[in-house]
Amino acid sequence: MKSINYIQSNKQRFLDELFDLLRIPSVSADSKFDKDVRNAAEFIKEKFENAGVDKAQLFETAGHPIVFAEKIIDPTWPTVLVYGHYDVQPADPYELWDSPPFEPVIKNEKIYARGACDDKGQMYMHVKAFESMMANNELSCNVKFMIEGEEEVGSKHLGDFVKANKELLKADVIVISDTGILSNDCPSMTVGLRGLSYLEVEVVGPNRDLHSGMYGGAVGNPINTLCDMISSLIDDKGCITIPGFYDKVLELTAAERAAMAKAPFDLEAYKKELGIDAVKGEDGYTTLERIGIRPTLDVNGIWGGYIGQGAKTVLPSKAYAKISTRLVPNQDSSEITQLVKNHIESIAPAHVKVTVTPHHGGEAAVIPTDSDGFRAASKAFVQAWGKEPIPMRDGGSIPIVALFQKELGLDSVMLGFGLDEDAIHSPNESYGVFNYIKGIETITWFYKFFSEK
Ligand code: BES
Ligand code: MN
Ligand code: MN
Repeated sequence: MKSINYIQSNKQRFLDELFDLLRIPSVSADSKFDKDVRNAAEFIKEKFENAGVDKAQLFETAGHPIVFAEKIIDPTWPTVLVYGHYDVQPADPYELWDSPPFEPVIKNEKIYARGACDDKGQMYMHVKAFESMMANNELSCNVKFMIEGEEEVGSKHLGDFVKANKELLKADVIVISDTGILSNDCPSMTVGLRGLSYLEVEVVGPNRDLHSGMYGGAVGNPINTLCDMISSLIDDKGCITIPGFYDKVLELTAAERAAMAKAPFDLEAYKKELGIDAVKGEDGYTTLERIGIRPTLDVNGIWGGYIGQGAKTVLPSKAYAKISTRLVPNQDSSEITQLVKNHIESIAPAHVKVTVTPHHGGEAAVIPTDSDGFRAASKAFVQAWGKEPIPMRDGGSIPIVALFQKELGLDSVMLGFGLDEDAIHSPNESYGVFNYIKGIETITWFYKFFSEK
């Protein structure tokens, strides 16, 4: 394909444009960045226009805008709907970055910036793959793009947009580049995503902070109590103790687990990369199973009392925690949210008042491998990487994937190229220049093979 040569000869410009996008701090969680989030949307809209779409527009929501663009070449041709997100996670804590998060740099062939991989770098590969196909007259399917600005805060308004615009979004397949591969030597494709239920816990004890000597030992400490409550949620086998939590969990057959175990996974390298001496999780499951097919409960943040310099002797009045559970197929996120909320409130001892407030959630998804879309993607990997991708169940969540299945009746092809070492959501997020360019090529091949199906 001529497009492949085009990608190689435009490599520097493709990188420069991504850098311009990475310089826009489109943090969806923090209203301080609202203007930047909008600027990122405008930026992408303009790039779609330059790349040759029929039309590109911003759809306003009660939150951040959705960028929609399309190129309908021939209504009788198959249509690909691309989903991605232009918002990013907060870059905090800034002091842990080796270079500023919104001033992208290349070091050791990797692009360092917030959003380099999740998801600006991966989303922008689609803009450039489309441009390459258009410029060389090689696009033989129709393409629609829906790029949102609220993925990192739970896609609050995207669900309504999808339900209200089914005709606009009509397509034969959905393609998403927002996941990873096992390694550059061993490409893989995500066939499972976990669901999510996220809650916040408030524990209130005495009506004010107290002197920890005058009152300590006589009045219950909300932080101590919160810790007790949290540690009671997981037993010594790594099982979650909330009654009913596992009731609907879909267990895999021995054959399915054996198939999963074929994926090459190096536990020693995994521990080394994370700087840990041992892994920890539910008894009876491998690390890949703990990530891919088992539900979890984690504290994401915990605070209260005095955390300033030096020591202050205080028995705090309040304690807080943010808790998330990752869910697997058949668990229902609102049901689990209710279950977790009721349970945590029910185990509150008499000396504190406990309130649990739900945040966002989303459903798990499994992606079938016997579809035209999956086969075309698999062929694209063989073409671009010289290897067939291994199907993998990921631990992360993209709740819109289950909603696409439900509302549009469409499965998503997860054509992601990130690596664990890209450190998404962490300081020093990165994305390999190789993966960026190879990703653009792979998407290009996907279009070709999907239209030949
Ligand atoms: N791209 C990630 C999800 C992901 C990462 C899936 C790696 C598979 C492998 C996405 O941007 C994300 O971070 N999602 C959130 C969920 C959302 C509801 C806030 C997550 O998984 O925490
Ligand atoms: Mn993402
Ligand atoms: Mn993310």
